[in-house]
Amino acid sequence: MNIQSILADKIKQAMIKAGAEEHCDALVRQSGKVQFGDYQANGIMAAAKKLGVNPRDFAAKVLEQAELSDIAEKTEIAGPGFINIFLDRHWLADNLQNALKDSKLGISAVEKQTVVADYSSPNVAKEMHVGHLRSTIIGDAVVRTLEFLGHRVIRANHVGDWGTQFGMLIAYLEKMENEHASEMELSDLEAFYRAAKEHYDSDEAFAEKARGYVVKLQSGDEYCRAMWKKLVNITMQQNQHNYDRLNVTLTEKDVMGESLYNPMLPSIVADLKAQGLAVEDEGALVVYLDEFKNKNGDPMGVIVQKKDGGFLYTTTDIAAAKYRYETLKADRALVFSDTRQSQHMQQAWLITRKAGYVPDSFQLEHKNFGMMLGKDGKPFKTRTGGTVKLADLLDEAIERADKLIAEKSTALSTEEKAAVVEAVGIGSVKYADLSKNRTTDYVFDWDNMLSFEGNTAPYMQYAYTRIRSIFNKAQIDEATLAAANIQLSDEKERLLAIKLLQFEEAVQIVAKEGTPHILCAYLYELAGIFSGFYEHCPILNNDDEQVKLSRLKLALLTEKTLKQGLDLLGIKTVEKM
Ligand code: ARG
Repeated sequence: MNIQSILADKIKQAMIKAGAEEHCDALVRQSGKVQFGDYQANGIMAAAKKLGVNPRDFAAKVLEQAELSDIAEKTEIAGPGFINIFLDRHWLADNLQNALKDSKLGISAVEKQTVVADYSSPNVAKEMHVGHLRSTIIGDAVVRTLEFLGHRVIRANHVGDWGTQFGMLIAYLEKMENEHASEMELSDLEAFYRAAKEHYDSDEAFAEKARGYVVKLQSGDEYCRAMWKKLVNITMQQNQHNYDRLNVTLTEKDVMGESLYNPMLPSIVADLKAQGLAVEDEGALVVYLDEFKNKNGDPMGVIVQKKDGGFLYTTTDIAAAKYRYETLKADRALVFSDTRQSQHMQQAWLITRKAGYVPDSFQLEHKNFGMMLGKDGKPFKTRTGGTVKLADLLDEAIERADKLIAEKSTALSTEEKAAVVEAVGIGSVKYADLSKNRTTDYVFDWDNMLSFEGNTAPYMQYAYTRIRSIFNKAQIDEATLAAANIQLSDEKERLLAIKLLQFEEAVQIVAKEGTPHILCAYLYELAGIFSGFYEHCPILNNDDEQVKLSRLKLALLTEKTLKQGLDLLGIKTVEKM
């Protein structure tokens, strides 16, 4: 259930009955302060102004019309015409019971959409680096959230698996295979790429061969195709290892690399030309966009085909957008990539729309993110200034988590400890990223993320285990608990109840905006409110059996919500720490 939208809808209906226009907005929000109620409607003043009536009088009329008797314990008109709403305890208790009974915690049914999520998207024969880490974990959290709400998600790992560099890579792979006879391991992709490039730059015969291979690969030559496939497979196997370690849901089946769109490009470019959108300019084909200006203030030219006939990153993204609408029948396509690609994405999609490849109703959304910075505020690098490999970063996370857990926990078996270290180490890296607003750069700081204090993975994971331990002590059977009533007599109980029922509001924002930090903030607040409740409201040593059971039910829904929420973020929980 979504309290905000239920109230918004009810108050809007009342506003219309009181004379407001069809498109009015009640502007219902969670209240920032307890004295303003649990929710407030801020849309009365604007609607009254349009009607030319006194806003407080209008608010009174709206409240007369509003059907809030079961939902609200009390309503009041405040200031110039705000409506404050205090939620009814019985209504809250009923909804908590529903949430407890439901495997999806009472979330409402959605109008099911097909959503393509383009994320992770590393490049072949290159090691995944920290930039891909952001795309991978933010994208995966949003994908999990969309699926939880009931949408159909198509994961599209837009791997950089095409382009002229493959001539050089194939030529080098061949050279390595000839020299070492045995199947190459290619364990260090970065070194492989560098060596290939060195040969290309210094050895003219090698370069010549490489250029020949580009042409052959593009015309479908079997040998080149097989060598190319080998490079893609080796890279994706290594990436899959990273995905598995990261607890990310991507598999090899989700690869939809740039090469997939390659066959579509000639006809797209021909069509853009036929439509008069693309024009020839010094041998290249260029689309001029009035919406983007170049340095001189003139319409910016976007090249869709180079002089030598080659296509570009933009051309591929035009084809990908078209394919996602036309072939995959999606309603929405999300791309998770660096903010520095924003202009590129907007241009590709503007051309896609101008060419009429997708209708206005098809949503194309760039879920951009900022850079990961070191503690010095500069782009995150190794001590020697190199790019940090994802695999090394994760190794370090495990090492550090091992130290943290050794200091903290004593009563764990070796296996339990290994599971905790893994959950905390990987969870910390993911949570640190997910909990920040993705659009800003963020500072990667081991000490902050591997801490039991603050909005961190260890704090959240520990909060979960604390509730688990209440149930281990309680030894209560499920049926007794299920049959019990929920009573919200204490204000701390009521506040916890409201927070629990706000889960869906947070989840829906994540699905719409692609902002997992909203869910992190929600879970962090929930854990804090639960702590306050737990300190103030005795549970197990309570003499009143009804109160005890009711409080256990609140604890149980908190436990389930924390676990579900962390699961949507791709963060593992453990039973004890
Ligand atoms: N491979 C690209 C990179 O490493 C990211 C691709 C993002 N997706 C897209 N459709 N352009 O930067």
